[in-house]
Amino acid sequence: MRALTSKELRQLYLDFFKSKGHAVIGSASLIPENDPTVLFTTAGMHPLVPYLMGEKHPEGKRLTDVQKCVRTGDIDEVGDPSHCTFFEMLGNWSLGDYFKKESIAFSYEFLTDEKWLGIPKDKLYFTCFEGDKNAPRDTVSFDRWVEMGVDPSHIVFLPKKNNWWGPAGMTGPCGPDTEIFFDTGAEPCGPDCKAGCDCHKYLEIWNNVFMEYNKVADGVYEPLAQKNVDTGMGLDRTIATLQGAKSVFDTDAFAPAITKIAELSHKGYEDNADTVKAFRIIADHIRCAVFMLGDQRGITPSNVDQGYILRRIIRRSIRFSMQLDMPDGSLNEIAKVFIDQYAPFYSELEQNREKILSELKKEENRFASTLKKGIREFGKLVAVLEGKTINGVDAFHLYDTYGFPIEFTVELAAEQGLSVDVDGFHAAFRAHQTLSQAGAEQRFKGGLADNTEATAALHSATHLMQAALRKVLNDDNVAQKGSNITAERLRFDFSFPRKVTPEELLEVERLVNEAIKADVPIICEEMTVAQAKEQGAIGLFESKYGSKVKVYTMGEFSKEICGGPHATHTGALGTFKIKKEEASSAGVRRIKAVLIP
Ligand code: SER
Repeated sequence: MRALTSKELRQLYLDFFKSKGHAVIGSASLIPENDPTVLFTTAGMHPLVPYLMGEKHPEGKRLTDVQKCVRTGDIDEVGDPSHCTFFEMLGNWSLGDYFKKESIAFSYEFLTDEKWLGIPKDKLYFTCFEGDKNAPRDTVSFDRWVEMGVDPSHIVFLPKKNNWWGPAGMTGPCGPDTEIFFDTGAEPCGPDCKAGCDCHKYLEIWNNVFMEYNKVADGVYEPLAQKNVDTGMGLDRTIATLQGAKSVFDTDAFAPAITKIAELSHKGYEDNADTVKAFRIIADHIRCAVFMLGDQRGITPSNVDQGYILRRIIRRSIRFSMQLDMPDGSLNEIAKVFIDQYAPFYSELEQNREKILSELKKEENRFASTLKKGIREFGKLVAVLEGKTINGVDAFHLYDTYGFPIEFTVELAAEQGLSVDVDGFHAAFRAHQTLSQAGAEQRFKGGLADNTEATAALHSATHLMQAALRKVLNDDNVAQKGSNITAERLRFDFSFPRKVTPEELLEVERLVNEAIKADVPIICEEMTVAQAKEQGAIGLFESKYGSKVKVYTMGEFSKEICGGPHATHTGALGTFKIKKEEASSAGVRRIKAVLIP
């Protein structure tokens, strides 16, 4: 096995696919264009969706790239051996050109041939799609791995939950995949431990997706005009594998930052479990912040959307840097390490060097001093706490006065075995919002408006609106195409062939407000997909949610499969008002609406 550096692996990967007739394309921005369903590019396929759907790519049918990605869904896992918020995905693409057989042969050659990665064959394990009512069992991939010389006992078939890939949104190109794992040599976690198990024995390094379907609605898959291949190999994970490192943080990608943190904090990375965690979180979060701030469509910290995520990441790293007693200005020192390291490959980081450093500094100045006071305040609060729960008003005080994101307070509390009355926090938030004369622009100086009661209420309003649209437009085919909620408004895309008239919009508003006035409880029940269907719930009938789904019911008005969160009763929503109705794309309409407290 070749112990390559990150830089060498990037180059080798692109060289390999170039030698197989692929054109090298640059990484797209981290901020997706025209995609209402996601805040960040979370996979290499996002920027290529039009080409997967059949549009001609100027560089041809075989492409290879290194795509910048951000996934914050797993932010609490950061610190474990394999999760990062920012990562680079190595990809090779066939746009209606080669398919399963060639894709698998390419992957196997690149992984195992001495000329390329030279990974011992017996260390590799594979998963294939087991088949369901939408698509057959993927025996073609299984047979091909065996043909390549893989021992059949190293291949397992798994359901859609594991071996199917589609965009983060609800519709679009998708298909079965075959995933490649490296056996780290750790003990199996139990008798059923096999590739696909998430105990860290088998590390997923590469995912080959065979996109031959277009998901048009819940449970409805149409064949795509062309069969595509989308593969994604995680750069950090593969490097950790090749370097025999115990985690992605113990590789050349993070070594310079870890050294810098040790220098600034006068502590050792591996002094104890707390330092390991803090070093890893700081390194991961600063790298992510550097790429967000330095992106070609760069963002800055704010209270909504991408800016909120960025702010939360920076503030979280400030907290951990304080835990390590790092001096003011440390963030910039660590950021410089990453800029120097990555700029040769991502020139936008060099172009935006000043912006990255000044924005980080500004956020540090804004937050670091109040953080210290806030932590003291938190300590006092805990000292006199009766019971195990911090009340909503106190959590709001930490937020309003000290700029503590609610997630942050919840995390601090959890470290002490305490919980936070998050509902109470949201209630205090809304009460303040109603009282504030300052308006939406500058509601909370240090505050963050997201994932709060405001978004939960708008989420519930979205359900009511979808139900009302179906009623008013008399069309069960009105199906959700995308949804995006900020603290200020909801945005909902749905399939419908023409403009919705002003009269119809008024009627939708009236029905939603009627449901709000009725003040019915919003009830969440877990049930199987079959039960949900039987009860007439709308929403995404997909096994990717696991065998059980959550169904939210609002009286007679709405019943929908959804992950939540929602308000507790419709009366809490305020007054519903549609702001705008417009075309989003062919056959898809978009509505923006607000709730007035
Ligand atoms: N889209 C797939 C993934 O993100 C392969 O690139 O895993």
